[in-house]
Amino acid sequence: MNNFIFENATKAVFGQGCVKEYLSCMVSHYGPNVLLAYGGGSIKRNGIYDEVCGILQSTDKNIVEFSGIMPNPTYAKVQEGAKLVRGNHIDLILAVGGGSVMDCCKAVSMAARYDGDLWADYWARPGVVDFEPVPLGMIVTVSGTGSEMNGGAVITNEELKIKTGRDYPKCNARFALMDPTYTFSVPKMQMISGGFDTLSHIMEIYFSEPDEPNVSDDIAEALMRGVVRDLRAAVQKPEDYTARSNLMWEATMAENRVIKLGKQTDFQAHMMEHQLGAYTDCNHGLGLAVLHPAYYRYICEKGITKFARFATRVWDVPADGKTEIELAHAGVEALADFIQELGMPTTLRELGVTEQTPMKELADSVPLTPGSYGKLTHEDVLHIFEACY
Ligand code: NZQ
Ligand code: ZN
Repeated sequence: MNNFIFENATKAVFGQGCVKEYLSCMVSHYGPNVLLAYGGGSIKRNGIYDEVCGILQSTDKNIVEFSGIMPNPTYAKVQEGAKLVRGNHIDLILAVGGGSVMDCCKAVSMAARYDGDLWADYWARPGVVDFEPVPLGMIVTVSGTGSEMNGGAVITNEELKIKTGRDYPKCNARFALMDPTYTFSVPKMQMISGGFDTLSHIMEIYFSEPDEPNVSDDIAEALMRGVVRDLRAAVQKPEDYTARSNLMWEATMAENRVIKLGKQTDFQAHMMEHQLGAYTDCNHGLGLAVLHPAYYRYICEKGITKFARFATRVWDVPADGKTEIELAHAGVEALADFIQELGMPTTLRELGVTEQTPMKELADSVPLTPGSYGKLTHEDVLHIFEACY
């Protein structure tokens, strides 16, 4: 194992009924003014809004609403939230939603306490957070990103056409309430997208140095097998509590830093998807599903042993008679087959890329990560985009 320091400041409260049972206790540690942040209104249709408001009112909180947080939240929306926090002397931001709501709220929690240009100083490049962001709590309504238990926040600057994530431990929520039954109303393809995002996070960590036996890779394999099993079960029966609760915790485990310990990590597919999102506003998990097979076909021969191990340990590809290279490719094709089995898109055109999309400009805008097997150039990125056009 490489050296590491581990800390995760978020208290995770998990399970059916956890909001009803624990929300009032969780919010009791903060002052009276709560910013209730949510997305486009799904929480009003599925009853979560009424449940949460009822609990907040019973504890005498003043609720200020911050609604309409869009998928792929924008920097303009962050500034709108920060204005509300400042103007209403907010003591706690309560994010009720998925990755988009949670990420937007993390950036709001910083923006409200920072007088400078947050984008320039903390998103365009990493900065040192030498101030205290507004305390945050999360209620997860769609799982996948793992944002509930990390400091990551992915924000789109529409003017600059840049979608960038930063992970500031000071943005970890104080608490995260995770009731798997809250995710039952998520549309099927969004559920699949979230599950695939989780699988992607695990792969982005797994396919990086070091490759000697290590605890993080061992846990990663168990998690990947779990995501495949649980997604299959949840597609068959969306209200399968066992499958949905496993998917929810697998998402958290993939991104709460545990399986990153001692690993370099890659996240090149994420960098490509984020810029694809900046140009097309596509759905995050679906973008990853299109890119991953093309990316891994491109690099797997630079990490043959690990991709071969992926084939046998995650996909149960029989090793008999196959060379290591054949096994490595078989692992990537097993992943591609799974994406097809789930009915996810397989081309960029399905995500909104057209002949008018400036592909070279898009490829050139992708940050290149040092962690992959064989560092990519922008020409390689363009090849990968073209391979899945
Ligand atoms: O906006 P509403 O009406 O609530 O609808 C949402 C949205 O349309 C809907 N939804 C959420 N809960 C629901 C529900 N519909 C019915 N019933 C429910 N219970 O789901 C749609 C998608 O929501 P969103 O939050 O956008 O999805 P997701 O959780 O996949 O988040 C995606 C964002 O997170 C970023 C992505 O880039 C993207 O911007 N990521 C954040 C990460 C992090 N912070 O660690 C890591 C990830 O790699 C990712 O980049
Ligand atoms: Zn992701």
